[in-house]
Amino acid sequence: NNKFYRHGQGWHCSEVGIVGAMVTDACFSARPSDVIIATLPKSGTTWMKSLLYATVHRRERPVVGAAAADQHPLNSWGPHDLIKFFEYQLYTRDRVPDLDRLPDPRLFATHVPFVSLPSSVVATPGCKIVYVCRDPKDHLVSLWDFVNKYFRVKDGLEPLSVEAAAELFCAGLTPFGPYWDHVLGYWRAHRADPDKVLFFRYEEMQRDPAAHVRRLAEFVGLPFSSEEEDGGVVDAVVGLCSFERMRGMAPTKGGRTEFPIGVVPNSSFFRQGVVGDWVNHLSPEMARRIDAITADKFRGSGLVV
Ligand code: A3P
Repeated sequence: NNKFYRHGQGWHCSEVGIVGAMVTDACFSARPSDVIIATLPKSGTTWMKSLLYATVHRRERPVVGAAAADQHPLNSWGPHDLIKFFEYQLYTRDRVPDLDRLPDPRLFATHVPFVSLPSSVVATPGCKIVYVCRDPKDHLVSLWDFVNKYFRVKDGLEPLSVEAAAELFCAGLTPFGPYWDHVLGYWRAHRADPDKVLFFRYEEMQRDPAAHVRRLAEFVGLPFSSEEEDGGVVDAVVGLCSFERMRGMAPTKGGRTEFPIGVVPNSSFFRQGVVGDWVNHLSPEMARRIDAITADKFRGSGLVV
């Protein structure tokens, strides 16, 4: 069911997410070559999965040229199949997957806050975490739209007003929230060990995706060579994973992804893909309130969102 629960370490989620996180913590054994994407839902997870997959596999799965891009696995399998969520797809109440045979580097994703990550992810040197943070107002609007369209209305419930969604958000009652604790947890981990935790902002990725792809490649130990730079590989990765391209692909238009909390069309992960759409939904007063909470929570952390 989709009822909300509170994890003992202070965050909220459906039962599936909480149990999945606990089973992952108990059973996942990290390797030094693992890379884990961590995000709040609706913060650019699908985009980062695609960028990471394309970057890591670019040598055996070339991205340059229309033909190469057309045959790329991202076209046919979809980002959520290629990089699976620990707590939604891999570990559940009654399933512990065998991940030993997966080739290195293994790529995973999670929405779980830093404090509740599988302990072996944190303890294993070399195992890396890529975090993507998004402006809280855009995260909220994206989440509100997604939950209404793909869960509430489908389940015969009234859509939630944006005002009601904002109230819940401010009270910390969003999946894997409170938002601020989630962001700060990964921000502090990044500050403590930037080689372990990479910290990206969705808005900055939008401003300069190529620079972020380069940083990502360096972070995972696969920097682009000068031949690759000259051959346009960085731009090809960016192009392959662009919003327009991914939204237009056949598996996006026709496919569905199954999570234990429900089945959603792949198109649900591609709504607008812009910065600042909150302005079309949130009142100036609501926006000011969220900004004030954010400024208060992040004060002294060195983090400005
Ligand atoms: P919007 O609802 O604001 O459009 P997630 O993947 O974490 O669920 O995040 C979904 C959000 O990322 C949606 O935001 C979606 O449109 C946006 N998004 C998906 N793919 C993207 C891409 N390739 N580039 C930029 N934004 C993308």
